[in-house]
Amino acid sequence: MTKKRVLSGVQPTGNLHIGNYLGAIRNWVELQYNYDNFFCVVDLHAITVPHNPATLAQDTYTIAALYLACGIDLNYSTIFVQSHVSAHSELAWLLNCVTPLNWLERMIQFKEKAIKQGDNVSVGLLDYPVLMAADILLYDADQVPVGEDQKQHLELTRNIAIAVNHKYGNEKNPIFKIPEPLIRKEGARIMSLSDGSKKMSKSDPSELSRINLLDTPDDIRKKIKKCKTDPIMGLNFADDRPECNNLLGLYGIFTGKSQEEVTTECSDMGWGKFKPLLTEATITALTPIQAKYQEIMTEKSYLDSVLKEGKEKAESVASITLKRVKDALGYLTIKN
Ligand code: TYM
Repeated sequence: MTKKRVLSGVQPTGNLHIGNYLGAIRNWVELQYNYDNFFCVVDLHAITVPHNPATLAQDTYTIAALYLACGIDLNYSTIFVQSHVSAHSELAWLLNCVTPLNWLERMIQFKEKAIKQGDNVSVGLLDYPVLMAADILLYDADQVPVGEDQKQHLELTRNIAIAVNHKYGNEKNPIFKIPEPLIRKEGARIMSLSDGSKKMSKSDPSELSRINLLDTPDDIRKKIKKCKTDPIMGLNFADDRPECNNLLGLYGIFTGKSQEEVTTECSDMGWGKFKPLLTEATITALTPIQAKYQEIMTEKSYLDSVLKEGKEKAESVASITLKRVKDALGYLTIKN
């Protein structure tokens, strides 16, 4: 039986934080053995907000190296760079022409990011989810493992696929496979260390709001020491304690303990006792990833070969889908 397909990606913008790891990459690693996997570094998405051309290539290497360092296994998974496979841009254009503008104007992430950009907001930012739909649909992905913030984009992807199938396909031969979001409960929404009601985000101006995958043990100690807590005695999971929920949740994920185990262990603790425990658990979880990352980054030629092979594998799948779509839309092809 052929394995089902997984596709997902991360943008090479700034440092990856533990939200990206726990909401997405950690799940890719766990799932990969049962699926046929494509993981891309979505560098075309990275320029939808102002970016630095001097660091884009290096940031792309960093993300690819982090995929490997976190445990993506090339025996099961393909790693590639989105801009290396031109079918992504081409399919995005075709999908643009079937996607109603008001579907995009409704996107929460667009509204949030657009506010920050004022008059300079680009068409690319509005179009971001259509390119994301192209990424997913090109690979006939069955499952798309992401954090909770991507749920709306996945719904849009499904709606675009359904619209194209309805307009240009037929029931027996659908053009696109309809993908499912795969959002795991634990870690799907890691919150800011400075405000437990806000998502941990790469674009938060405060470095203290997030723990990056490549933070040193000293950085991690400092950030957890300074993170926001509440004045309530005893620690427990409670809806009206967002900081406590987030920090206990992180502790549970990093130590592999269940909510019940964490509750039993921490219910009588104060922050002064808990914070060093969380700090050590975080450092223990991130240290092996960082060591592997340093090793991979010393071998750029190896990374180049991984990305070259990834591009070839991705292209061989994407070109078939793109041809299927172009045929369905009626494009002229010239016989060789
Ligand atoms: P990006 O780079 O913004 O985020 C990468 C992944 O990290 C997840 N994530 C979080 N998970 C839990 N808690 C958080 N605080 C947190 N912050 C981010 C995101 O949900 C995401 O899974 N649009 C995508 C990139 C993309 C993509 C795709 C993903 C482009 N094409 C195709 C899947 C399939 C994004 O959010 O990247």
